[in-house]
Amino acid sequence: GTGLNALAKAAGKLYFGTATDNGELSDAAYTAILDNNKEFGQITPANSMKWDATEPTRGTFTFSGGDQIANLAKANGQLLRGHNCVWYNQLPSWVSNGQFTAADLTTVIQNHCSTLVSHYKGQVYSWDVVNEPFNDDGTWRQDVFYNVLGTTYPAIALKAARAADPNAKLYINDYNIEQSGAKATAMLNLVKQLIADGVPIDGVGFQCHFIVGEVPGTFQTVLEQFTALGLEVAITELDIRTTTPASQSALAQQQKDYQSVVQACMNVDGCVGITVWDFTDKYSWVPSTFSGQGAACPWDQNLVKKLAYNGIVAAL
Ligand code: XIL
Repeated sequence: GTGLNALAKAAGKLYFGTATDNGELSDAAYTAILDNNKEFGQITPANSMKWDATEPTRGTFTFSGGDQIANLAKANGQLLRGHNCVWYNQLPSWVSNGQFTAADLTTVIQNHCSTLVSHYKGQVYSWDVVNEPFNDDGTWRQDVFYNVLGTTYPAIALKAARAADPNAKLYINDYNIEQSGAKATAMLNLVKQLIADGVPIDGVGFQCHFIVGEVPGTFQTVLEQFTALGLEVAITELDIRTTTPASQSALAQQQKDYQSVVQACMNVDGCVGITVWDFTDKYSWVPSTFSGQGAACPWDQNLVKKLAYNGIVAAL
């Protein structure tokens, strides 16, 4: 059939999906595309399951935003990726500025992961349990988790998540691990150690926030290095940005870039699916984060399919 998810499934993948956010769900023209599970068989909440949204003060949990996305996935017959349990960003200040002993922060992580993952038990295909643990040079990010607990914190979070929902696939997710180099090696070494230690880990997420003309040539090779360990992999946050306003030649290159990224996943059996980090330039996070850049999604500002869409179709 036609539609990105229908094509992905016909080709043996579990899903083609998209991120979405609560504020966008009142846009009927947008949701008409989002809700079409021929295009999207999986959704990820862009913000509403993050720590600042779900446990803004210690021990007080708010799930209304996350529930709205989870209920939408259920209504649409879409898989759900949970995003995320432990990340240095979008942390409430009681965590980021907390003065914790190792024992206290362990309890904080366990309680957060356990309560969050339990709340969505049975509704989530996969959880990004740990997000962005590494700096680009492959050293550990010096966040509150690492500063207090060192390299032990991913295992604390993963074990709590497994206990809370034994059927959810547990992922570590990061960016700039898509090319061979220090950061990909650091991630490989981390997951090898977790496996050796018997810590529950099922997958690695490759964010894939790329720049037009700069898709790394080693991406498929890196994916295969992870699946060789018995893990699944997924493209979790794909977008390919360019200088705005985008030129016709940039949009033509973007089509090729989308095709090559999706093709890398198609070529690797253990790559279960592809998620774009929202499908339209109307709601992309890119312009507000990367000054002067945007036009990163397969649908334009007016919800019209771009050449990039054809690039994805060509690979599926
Ligand atoms: C982004 C959201 O899309 C934005 O709305 C928010 O302001 C910042 O975070 N890596 C991630 C995502 O893992 O959680 C980020 O999402 C994009 C980069």
